[in-house]
Amino acid sequence: MEPAAGITERLLERLSRARRLVVLTGSGVSHESGVPTFRGRDGLWKKYRAEELATRQAFEFDPELVWRWYDYRRQLIAEAAPNPAHEAIARLESHREHFDLVTQNVDGLHSRAGSRSPIELHGNIWRARCTREGLTKELKENPLRDIPPRCHKCGALLRPDVVWFGEPLPPSAYERADTAARTCDAMLVVGTSAMVRPAASLPLIAKHNGAYVVEINVSLTPISVLIDASLVGRAGEILPELVDRLLDREGGRKPLIPGSSEKTESPSR
Ligand code: OAD
Repeated sequence: MEPAAGITERLLERLSRARRLVVLTGSGVSHESGVPTFRGRDGLWKKYRAEELATRQAFEFDPELVWRWYDYRRQLIAEAAPNPAHEAIARLESHREHFDLVTQNVDGLHSRAGSRSPIELHGNIWRARCTREGLTKELKENPLRDIPPRCHKCGALLRPDVVWFGEPLPPSAYERADTAARTCDAMLVVGTSAMVRPAASLPLIAKHNGAYVVEINVSLTPISVLIDASLVGRAGEILPELVDRLLDREGGRKPLIPGSSEKTESPSR
C-alpha cells in the first residue's frame, strides 16, 4: 500500500492510464454538504435505531413514524447543495469515455452536481413505490403534506423507494455496478465505511480483477489494507485537486460533452 500521504505521480499515472474508471461513493461524499453520515460521530445510526426506521417490519408496524423520519431527512437534503467533491466527480465523468459512478447514497446530490446516470444501489429518497402495485414515481413534495402518503391510483400506502436492511439491492443497479467493478481499470472509493455489503465488496471485486483501487476518506477503513492507496482527508478537498491534476496531466482534455459537468437546477425542491 502507498503511504496515506498524498497524490503521488505514480497514483496519477495509474489513474490516467485507466481506460475504464469507476467511482464508488458513500455518505461521506455528502457530509461536507451538511448531510449526516450513518456511522460517523454525528451519524444517523448513533441517534436512531435502524431496525425501527429502515426495515420492512418497521414500516409495516408504523408507516407514519418511518415516513416522518424520511420526511425529516428529505428536508435536510433539500437544504443541502452539492459540494466540490460531487462537482469534481461530475467534471471527471465529463472527460471520460468509459466512466461509471456507483453510489450508495439516496440523496440525489450527484445528479444535481451534473453526474449523468449514477447507479443508485440503495435507491433514491425522492422516489416512492406503491406497496400494492410496486410502481415507482417521483415524490418531490417537501415537506410532505400527507404522512404516510398514498398512491394516487389505487390508494395503497406508498413507501420510500430505498433499500432497507434485509432487502436485496435493485437487481439491475447491482448488475451494472458488478459489471463496472469487474471490468474497470481503476476505482476511486469515496466516503464509505465499506461496512455494508454488497456495495462494500465492489472495491475488492475490482482489485481482484486487476484494477488499481484508491480510497478517499477522512479515516482508514476495513478495506484500506487490501487496496492500492488511501488518501486520508476530506473528499471536498482531495477530489478537486486530484481531478485538476489528472486533467492537467492529460493536457486539459476537453469535456466529451461540453458543459456537461455544470450544475443543474435542484430537482429535489
Ligand atoms: P457510513 O456512515 O458507514 O460511512 C461514512 C464514511 O464517510 C466513513 O468512513 C467516514 O470516515 C467517511 N467520511 C465522513 N466525512 C467525510 C468526508 N468529508 N470526506 C471523505 N470521507 C468522509 O456511510 P456509508 O458507507 O455510505 O444503507 O454507509 C453505507 C450504507 O449503510 C448506507 O447506504 C446506508 C447505511 O446503513 C442503507 O440505508 C441500506
